Amino acid sequence: MQQQTILITGGNDGIGRATAQVLLERGHRVIIAGRSKEKLAAAVATLRYRTNKEAIDWLYCDLASLETVREAASTFTTQFGKLDVLINNAGVFTNELQYSEDGIELQFAVNHLGHFLLTKLLLPLLKAAPAGRIVNLASVAHFHGKLDFESLTGEDGPECYNGLEAYARSKLANVLFTRELARRYPEIESNCLHPGVIRTRIANKETRWFISLFWNLYKPFMRSTRCGARTPLYLAMSPEVRNVTGRYFDERQCCRKPSMLARDPELAHELWEWSDVMTQEMA
Ligand SMILES: NC(=O)c1ccc[n+]([C@@H]2O[C@H](COP(=O)([O-])OP(=O)(O)OC[C@H]3O[C@@H](n4cnc5c(N)ncnc54)[C@H](OP(=O)(O)O)[C@@H]3O)[C@@H](O)[C@H]2O)c1
Repeated sequence: MQQQTILITGGNDGIGRATAQVLLERGHRVIIAGRSKEKLAAAVATLRYRTNKEAIDWLYCDLASLETVREAASTFTTQFGKLDVLINNAGVFTNELQYSEDGIELQFAVNHLGHFLLTKLLLPLLKAAPAGRIVNLASVAHFHGKLDFESLTGEDGPECYNGLEAYARSKLANVLFTRELARRYPEIESNCLHPGVIRTRIANKETRWFISLFWNLYKPFMRSTRCGARTPLYLAMSPEVRNVTGRYFDERQCCRKPSMLARDPELAHELWEWSDVMTQEMA
């Protein structure tokens, strides 16, 4: 296969880093994006050492800041000028109400809105690619998600906040976004996935100690990040996915029916319009 240029958000840790490693091993050009320049530089050094390949770079992009996302898309376009596959992998989980720089509930801001804007700004490059692809890391948690646009700016207050519900809502948005991307841009293959329950630090970062402890207790029963990278890699690279778009896949690379809400075309349209307004308002 010809060398592809692939951008992975949250590529400095967990599933994103494992995905980057395999893509590098296969001879592709990989750019990892993240919110910490130090962590990104360290991950690039580690991946170069592990794979003995140089075709990896990093891009500063804090998805909790729409301004940073705009700068990142512009830097990427100038610096690399080419994009075959965008893997929207970055994710955050928190059990306390927090806000992005733009005043949006943090999980929704990072897991959906930042990716929405980044994807839109990189669409010209993806459309110009011979076979552009977008891969969104959703989750089986989306089955518990509901979408209430009013609560996304946090008016309900911290006492009403449930971190798991907010995470599920952001993951529902990932599936709806995928569906709407496929409808609006049929020339790009856009799919999303649940990677499995994977041994990463996602629930050790922004959570209280007891959530972190609970997550650690379960880690021995979880699968490795290398396993977690299988479905993103499949959707990014496999010829089997050619002409397959707007679908949700599980950790065994099987196409599955997502939740009823995730299949609602009007909700997908509404989410797109809401996201468009929010990202323009904050320009
Ligand atoms: N692990 C699982 O069992 C599981 C299950 C279902 C779905 N997922 C999904 O898989 C994806 C990857 O998660 P993971 O488990 O690999 O977690 P992880 O190891 O914590 O990796 C998440 C990545 O996202 C980055 N990130 C967080 N906030 C960001 C921000 N504001 N701007 C830019 N990057 C940011 C993190 O950067 P830092 O290193 O700076 O924190 C990290 O690189 C997520 O979308 C998650 O929802 C995971």
